[in-house]
Amino acid sequence: MFIKGQFRQSEQLALMFQAVEAARNGVVITDPVQPDNPIIYTNPAFTDITGYAADEILGQNCRFLQGEDRAQPALNDVRLAIKEGRDVTAILRNYRKDGRRFFNELTISPVRNDRGKLVAFVGIQNDITARIEAEERISDFYSIVSHELRTPIAKIKSSLAVIADGEAGPVSDSVRRFVDISIKAADSLWRLLENILDFKKLESGKFFLLRQRLQLAQLVESAVVEFQPVADAADVALKFHRLASPTVDADGQRIVQVLENLLSNAVKFSRSGSEVNVKVLSHGAEWARVEVIDSGGGIAAADISKLFGKFQQLELPDKRTRGGTGLGLAVCKAIIEAHGGRVGVESELGRGSTFWFELPSCTSVGRTSVTDS
Ligand SMILES: Cc1cc2nc3c(=O)[nH]c(=O)nc-3n(C[C@H](O)[C@H](O)[C@H](O)COP(=O)(O)O)c2cc1C
Repeated sequence: MFIKGQFRQSEQLALMFQAVEAARNGVVITDPVQPDNPIIYTNPAFTDITGYAADEILGQNCRFLQGEDRAQPALNDVRLAIKEGRDVTAILRNYRKDGRRFFNELTISPVRNDRGKLVAFVGIQNDITARIEAEERISDFYSIVSHELRTPIAKIKSSLAVIADGEAGPVSDSVRRFVDISIKAADSLWRLLENILDFKKLESGKFFLLRQRLQLAQLVESAVVEFQPVADAADVALKFHRLASPTVDADGQRIVQVLENLLSNAVKFSRSGSEVNVKVLSHGAEWARVEVIDSGGGIAAADISKLFGKFQQLELPDKRTRGGTGLGLAVCKAIIEAHGGRVGVESELGRGSTFWFELPSCTSVGRTSVTDS
């Protein structure tokens, strides 16, 4: 049947059952043929995590774990996936029998019989409360430090600008060189603080988009031009390609912020003398797409899924990480998703990476024009 070794069919079934009963993750099976998709099986870990005994919950829909906390955006994904009979993974706020909250990383999969008919769903519950709480503590720490650093760094930036403009007296070429280096360092520190504070805003929902109808290619091209000096300093050639001219309803400043993050990563991870290509194109009729393509060391398949999470630092092939809070990509993802868009990366070790994002296109104007520059 399905288990390798000298087991009879009944022994194999017994082994499967014992394995599910022994698992440390919660496992529930529900019956979608019955009204309201009730639980028909729970393993001991599920009752350990939730505090409910099996006979208290068999026959109920799993939503009782949400208590009054029903306005969770992730529930829309769960609802839709169940309706369409497909897999889904979501992080939900759930409540134990004693009322204590826990974070449930839930994966639901449809179970089909030999004829492809949906006969059950299996849900695997992973209690990730400790991880989320640790992330919250780090995030709070970052935000306190960032607030404290904002004022002194703003002062450093404005003082350096005064020196650079010659308002504080004549500046020799050699002093100007050091002032320029300091300005760049202060700017990158400033960007870092903005990422941290933005992330806090995104997490707490205090984040607004000032949307306007924009020509995406124009916006991207000017962001690339602005970024040119950073690429020049790292001896990386930055090339822009307009393969379409889609229009989007977006907050221009936020999109530029995403681009700056992606460009700064691409340049950071590129070898001196190499190229970073930035393309604006269309993906079908609905999506405007931007790609930032580097030829750096690439990212291992195992790390790709973690990249857009919080506090994930990109690692160089020689195992060193390069600065940053590990929040840049998480902020990018949150900004693009707030626009109803999506982000991703395609990468292969040794062959570089393509970081991309897509925004909903609003018109078909110019979609077919191709002017590669
Ligand atoms: C197999 C399976 C396991 C589920 N496990 C949980 C769970 O552990 N916690 C939870 O809040 N919801 C869980 N759900 C989701 C809810 O049962 C329900 O589908 C969700 O609340 C959205 O539907 P509703 O809007 O009708 O409540 C599970 C669903 C299925 C099919």
